Amino acid sequence: MPTLLLNASEVVTCEGPPRARRAPEMTDAGVRANAAVAMGDDGRILAVGPDRELRAQYPGSAEIDCARGVLTPGFVDSHTHAIFGRSRHAEQELRAAGVGYMEIAKRGGGIHSSVRDLRERSEDELVALAASRLARLAAHGSTTIEVKSGYGLSLESELRTLRVIRRLAAELPVRLVPTFLGAHEIPLEYREAPRTREDYIALLVEEMLPAVARESLARFCDIFCEPGVYSAAEARRILGAARGHGMALKLHADELEHAGAAELAAEIGATSADHLAAVSELGIKALAASGTVATLLPGTMLFLGRSKQAPARAMLDAGCAIALASDFNPGTSPTVNFPLILTLGVSQLRLSVAEAFVAATVNGAAALGLAHEIGQLAPGFSADVALFDVEDHREIPYWYGDHRCVATWVRGRKVLP
Ligand code: NIG
Ligand code: FE
Repeated sequence: MPTLLLNASEVVTCEGPPRARRAPEMTDAGVRANAAVAMGDDGRILAVGPDRELRAQYPGSAEIDCARGVLTPGFVDSHTHAIFGRSRHAEQELRAAGVGYMEIAKRGGGIHSSVRDLRERSEDELVALAASRLARLAAHGSTTIEVKSGYGLSLESELRTLRVIRRLAAELPVRLVPTFLGAHEIPLEYREAPRTREDYIALLVEEMLPAVARESLARFCDIFCEPGVYSAAEARRILGAARGHGMALKLHADELEHAGAAELAAEIGATSADHLAAVSELGIKALAASGTVATLLPGTMLFLGRSKQAPARAMLDAGCAIALASDFNPGTSPTVNFPLILTLGVSQLRLSVAEAFVAATVNGAAALGLAHEIGQLAPGFSADVALFDVEDHREIPYWYGDHRCVATWVRGRKVLP
């Protein structure tokens, strides 16, 4: 029996071709006033149209009253680091006092402190911690969440992290996409003789990647390609090996300083290049000419207290396909609130509201290689839907920091409340 979502003041369909959108296509989020959504038994969208028409077309359906709220595709959060132990709140004050992100890392804090913490935790403990955090992300309207490893940095703890993601994917109603980020940092034990960074890279390439592939634990391989972390040459080698194991590719690219990572992402056909606050002119051109999605994470720069954001308008003018994501992680973006990312997309990156919605749905889906399946309220797409207690979709980025998501469905099944 189909389910009808009736009495919505607006439906933001984001309907259009199932691929990453670029300007000017992104300026149309397909908003329909007074429309309803029909969800089929197979978990797919049947139709979007006026209440009366859908009632006539699908008689005897279950009916849900949206109370004049706004329906949108569930957000596709294509970049999170949701598997970690404790929070790192002390670093926020340190940065306020003038100690930089990289300086904190050099002192053994930052990613390294999350690594020490995660290595001591059991699989069950990590599952419990992540389940409650993923529930918070979902409560704000995210229905697909990419989740990276990267706080283990040893064969055993990276595999443990990825198995945690696999368990959560099977247990939770939200859709999870797993990414291997063993190249998140060089672990501290590989920085002193007799071990070297080359030894860690060899471990990544010769042991970790094959083990991840053997258990089919990750769809993507990612790397933190940044001056002081991994160079573009190292990224080329590691990602080349990952591709050899059938994984698709992502990069933390030019996040804080330029590393030529956007150029590399475009050249090797990465699915996405993420962050890009320090992307070069050449990097923008390369991304625009490629199929690589430029994933922007404005929450990160906000939380780090940096004035610089990715040059989103220049990227759109050049023809890049832009996605928005939360970067949810304990160090640089501990927010679970995707609508807040839309706010930052408009107020900091200067996207239009329509561009922000397309970036958060269709283009997020493209950043996960899933644009044919999710990110649109259109016939045949997965019935992944969010309902907001607002009358106009532009209020979703407007009431910033608020919690207006009142219900979500994934594959047509109610997740919340
Ligand atoms: O996307 N830049 C690398 N990774 C994360 C931060 C991780 C951390 O600080 O724990 C990011 O910003
Ligand atoms: Fe990240």
